[in-house]
Amino acid sequence: MNEGEGHGMQPSGVWALKPLADMSAAEFHDWRALLEDRTGLVIGDQRRAFLQTNLSARMRELGVDDYGSYYRQVTDGPRGAVEWSTLLDRLTVQETRFFRHPPSFEVLDVYLRERTAQVEQRPWALWSVGCSSGEEPYSLAIAAAEALRDTPWPEHFGVTGTDISLNALSKARDASYGPRRLQQLDEVLAERYFRRQDDGRFKVVPNLAARVCCARLNVLELAKAPMSGMDVIFCQNLLIYFRRWRRREILNRLAERLAPGGLLVVGVGEVSGWHHPDLQPVADERVLAFTRKG
Ligand SMILES: C[S@@+](CC[C@H](N)C(=O)[O-])C[C@H]1O[C@@H](n2cnc3c(N)ncnc32)[C@H](O)[C@@H]1O
Repeated sequence: MNEGEGHGMQPSGVWALKPLADMSAAEFHDWRALLEDRTGLVIGDQRRAFLQTNLSARMRELGVDDYGSYYRQVTDGPRGAVEWSTLLDRLTVQETRFFRHPPSFEVLDVYLRERTAQVEQRPWALWSVGCSSGEEPYSLAIAAAEALRDTPWPEHFGVTGTDISLNALSKARDASYGPRRLQQLDEVLAERYFRRQDDGRFKVVPNLAARVCCARLNVLELAKAPMSGMDVIFCQNLLIYFRRWRRREILNRLAERLAPGGLLVVGVGEVSGWHHPDLQPVADERVLAFTRKG
């Protein structure tokens, strides 16, 4: 099927082939602005086809055949908000995996193991910003559980995963993964922290799942977030889709949420030349990470 073609839902409920016109320059401008304004995500000219394909796929499902009507639909008050939430899942990249970028997790492991004595007084608070379907927050939980395994406080930690996508969050809360996903994990860890279900999928063990909580949070609205005094913040593979000034602004907000001595891990190459007066870079070229002074 060509990109411009599609199925239009007829009033009778019969599917018929109906071409969907190319987006005009004005429509592209409006959709792009809406997405960036609401999520921070930037659709460059080279991703116009991506936007058009995903919008038109959803429009076909709804039987809407022009971009202007659909735009009015998603911007139409509370009803629009429901549709917006569905559309968002089509327009965001939710690719993820367990222990993504292993050097970041090596740095985390060293960091946590040096601080195990502190959890007696205050459990660790870890945060995965843009947690997608949960692989990152469960990886953080596994790292913390491993670091505390032989201490008297094996459960003195909590992980929060936040994301803008309700669909991703529901997968994260479900905590069930196909066997291929688990191949990304060390065998011992997979055995220790997952149980095989009757359907062949693997579920995070209840003790670990109970330490992870997932909530909706648009990273543009960090001012509304209750998190503070975080020991660890992971923000990988999210800022890359944002404008440079916005990346810095978000990192400044995240830095404020760190506890003294806390660790902030960002995806390598996702920001350059960013400094914060309260943070110092971690001296490891393989990662982009900072600790808060004090
Ligand atoms: C590519 S995934 C990265 C997942 C994980 N952090 C990793 O590194 O594997 C990016 C995630 O960011 C989420 N996202 C996009 N825009 C967002 C926003 N404005 N606020 C919060 N999450 C957002 C997407 O829904 C998606 O789940």
